[in-house]
Amino acid sequence: MQEKLPEIKKRALEEITKANNLQEIEALRIEFLGKKSEINELMKGMGALSAEERPVFGALINEVKDEIEKALASKKEEFEEVAMLAKMEKEKIDVTIPGNRQVMGRIHPLNKVLNQICDIFVSMGFEIADGPEIETDYYNFEALNIPKDHPARDSQDTFYISENVLLRTQTSPVQIRVMENKKPPIRIIAPGRVYRSDEVDATHSPMFHQIEGLVIDKGITFGMLKGCLEEFVHKLYGADVKTRFRPHHFQFTEPSAEMDISCPACGGKGCSVCKGEGWIEILGAGMVHRNVLKRGNIDFNEYSGFAFGMGLERLAMRALGVNDLRLFYESDVRFLEQF
Ligand code: DAH
Repeated sequence: MQEKLPEIKKRALEEITKANNLQEIEALRIEFLGKKSEINELMKGMGALSAEERPVFGALINEVKDEIEKALASKKEEFEEVAMLAKMEKEKIDVTIPGNRQVMGRIHPLNKVLNQICDIFVSMGFEIADGPEIETDYYNFEALNIPKDHPARDSQDTFYISENVLLRTQTSPVQIRVMENKKPPIRIIAPGRVYRSDEVDATHSPMFHQIEGLVIDKGITFGMLKGCLEEFVHKLYGADVKTRFRPHHFQFTEPSAEMDISCPACGGKGCSVCKGEGWIEILGAGMVHRNVLKRGNIDFNEYSGFAFGMGLERLAMRALGVNDLRLFYESDVRFLEQF
């Protein structure tokens, strides 16, 4: 029995050296150390040996088994290492390649100022209302006390779609739509786009934005209008900015006024922003005309109200120090990035 062992060992080690992959190693393990291997057969035959021979032979067999196992393990390790290196090569990333810079978008300057204005009015209890940009003559003019052929229509340079359908020239029609759908107390602002057939220049655009305001309740006075708009100006421009009201005319308010603020750029001394005047006009306002309340089905013996309207672009130009309104619409990131 003993003579067979060196031959088995020699054969096993030779074949292990020649193995090409992990599967072949496994096949050799089964062949030389498995249940049906020659070595296993030899071990089964050990019962026939004498008590003296048995431990000697046992030790010899174990030695051979050990050597074969070691050879298998080291060959296996070799293949595993090759496989690992191949995997690492495949998954290699170059951490020195420069990254792609992520360009972050930002809020458009007009929206930024609009959000500020909305926040201020919402903090005073106003709700945000909305109306269509394609309007009827009735809501844009008629119901606002601007009858057909009234000269006030001329100042609006209207884009007509048909005889009675137009692009709204002001956000004031939202006043009528809100009154039709809501009972007083009413306290809304309505921001949105308006259209006028103006030539484009540094201060005019055929599309711009207005913010309309409407308050209706019992006992609303002109004093409340002044208080509300002063509060708004102080929150938007700071407590140092002064306000003044000048009489004006609007068809849908009576009495009507325009509100000026002391120039936020020079503090009222006079500069290029206020054209040396020290004051800047920022909005139109007044007590809602009886004819308008009537159109909105509101009893003017019981209720009164005030309204105001302002242009977003002009406010934003002043708030941000922009001197050409066209910059807001050109989508030039070099401009937009500054805010
Ligand atoms: N709608 C006016 C315009 O476009 C602005 C305006 C003035 C709105 C007085 C009002 C107001 O609500 O009371 O010029």
